[in-house]
Amino acid sequence: MLTTETLVKELVEKNGRTRNSLMPVLQGIVREQNYLSDEAMICVAKELDLSAADVYGTASFYSFLDTIPRGKNIIRICKTITCHMQGKDDIVNALSNALKIKIGETTHDKKFTLLTTNCLGWCHKGPVMLVNDEVYPELTPQKALEIIEEYAKKTVI
Ligand code: FES
Repeated sequence: MLTTETLVKELVEKNGRTRNSLMPVLQGIVREQNYLSDEAMICVAKELDLSAADVYGTASFYSFLDTIPRGKNIIRICKTITCHMQGKDDIVNALSNALKIKIGETTHDKKFTLLTTNCLGWCHKGPVMLVNDEVYPELTPQKALEIIEEYAKKTVI
């Protein structure tokens, strides 16, 4: 695995050394390391000649740019009104019981983090969850559990 410094340098090399590169660089770090560590944000600030506060402000503004360690797979269940009315609580409860974690927590084996998110734009097919970049619409508790089981099987820590 690349060191944080090498990873940041490579991403800056690829995306350019301007302020516009900030988002793609931060996204690239999250893709590789699952979250943005303080070390990574300081490296980015140095490389892009920005203040660390500027980088941290951008990272913490976007909920998809995690600034605390997360599991290998991030489950985000839509909590907005349509999905809420279509049974999002049943999905949250089923996953929470199966994984033995609450919203915001990560499993001991670091395979899963359970989060909620705002509308994912799939309201007509709620309830909906996102696992990493993949959208799963029209969920039932059973279907959500099966999806997570598949991820558990193929995730190597
Ligand atoms: Fe859940 Fe829109 S309300 S996807």
